[in-house]
Amino acid sequence: MREKARDDGGVKHLGDGMATVKRNGRTMVSCFPTSDRKINRRGQSRAGMRFQPNRDYVSNDEVQTPAALARRLVRHFRPRGHVLEPCCGEGRILRHLPRGASWCEIKRGRDFFDWREPVDWIVTNPPWSQIRSFLRHALMLADHVVFLLTINHLWTKARLRDIRAADFGIREILLVDMPPEFPQSGFQLGAVHLQRGWRGRITLSGRGFSTARGLKRVRTRTSRKIRRDAKERARAAEMADER
Ligand SMILES: C[S@@+](CC[C@H](N)C(=O)[O-])C[C@H]1O[C@@H](n2cnc3c(N)ncnc32)[C@H](O)[C@@H]1O
Repeated sequence: MREKARDDGGVKHLGDGMATVKRNGRTMVSCFPTSDRKINRRGQSRAGMRFQPNRDYVSNDEVQTPAALARRLVRHFRPRGHVLEPCCGEGRILRHLPRGASWCEIKRGRDFFDWREPVDWIVTNPPWSQIRSFLRHALMLADHVVFLLTINHLWTKARLRDIRAADFGIREILLVDMPPEFPQSGFQLGAVHLQRGWRGRITLSGRGFSTARGLKRVRTRTSRKIRRDAKERARAAEMADER
């Protein structure tokens, strides 16, 4: 049964276990099991649940991708053709992209939202406070888009709708460890590869999840072993017959 919405200091109870809390000038929304509706001013329920894994998390749009991670992303996804780094910052990703790659960076006078030319790939760690607008613009320009983000950023209904409306599919999510210099939100970091027209399955890779290529290797190795064992058994049976 729905409760009547009520205001309780910074906490606004919306009913059905839903509430919003104002903290540091920002409003956060949370949903708790209906049996556990009491939420205090720190955004915790009686069971000690929080609104997000780290409630002191502050988004920072200026964090540069560490060099090793930048190299890994480019090696993994192998962007080719005309590639754009739409907000290159210090150029950590840009320097690993194929020769002739283009870039934007607002601090150097090139606003990504002014870029109009279609490209083959866009690869970046975007400013996380602008993910939706960056994503929408990237989907208009490129056939492949790789964004480094906390992957929960992908699963809002609006963003999934944007992806579908642009005729894109999620091709791969590469899970990566959160670098220490990134804001520690407690959410999983990943590089998401979106491809225009992609209708296939989503590959989840990294952090112990197998890539499709890895699985194929395992399968090939296993079937080779099965064939070898079968041959050995047949040979042993022949030798036993001869005796
Ligand atoms: C999280 S940093 C990442 C920098 C770089 N992509 C990297 O991976 O190291 C985001 C960058 O986006 C830039 N930026 C923000 N809005 C922009 C815009 N509209 N056009 C171009 N760059 C923008 C910021 O100045 C910042 O350098």
